[in-house]
Amino acid sequence: MMYSEKVMDHFMNPRNVGEIEDASGVGTVGNAKCGDIMKIFLKIEDGIVLDAKFKTFGCGAAVATSSMATELIKGKTIQQALEITNKAVMEALDGLPPIKVHCSCLAEEALHAALWDYAEKNGIVIEGLEKPVNDISEHENLDEDY
Ligand code: FES
Repeated sequence: MMYSEKVMDHFMNPRNVGEIEDASGVGTVGNAKCGDIMKIFLKIEDGIVLDAKFKTFGCGAAVATSSMATELIKGKTIQQALEITNKAVMEALDGLPPIKVHCSCLAEEALHAALWDYAEKNGIVIEGLEKPVNDISEHENLDEDY
């Protein structure tokens, strides 16, 4: 299996590791098939994501995608944040091996879960945001990735 230099860099030197104590939104998502868990913390003010941190108990690709996803979301508006799909994260990392694509889905779902939590805490609706799942292996469209 070949990883890009960017994946290796974000795995060896992950950005934004840790917690945000007074986070505006926190999202935790796992994948029961591999047992990996990702937790993302967002600090949002005036509709802008000011800070993002993560804790990931998982494979190297899960760490690298959490690192890149938190980098990408910082400074974005909430609507722009929704455009950070697993594909966008993979592109920013110069790709992932096919059997590791599902790890990037964990990152997308954890971002969405944190945004969902923020929306619930503030009694707002984020247009285009679907309720995230706790376990992404429930997504049947991921089957092809295993
Ligand atoms: Fe589980 Fe990568 S193997 S997230």
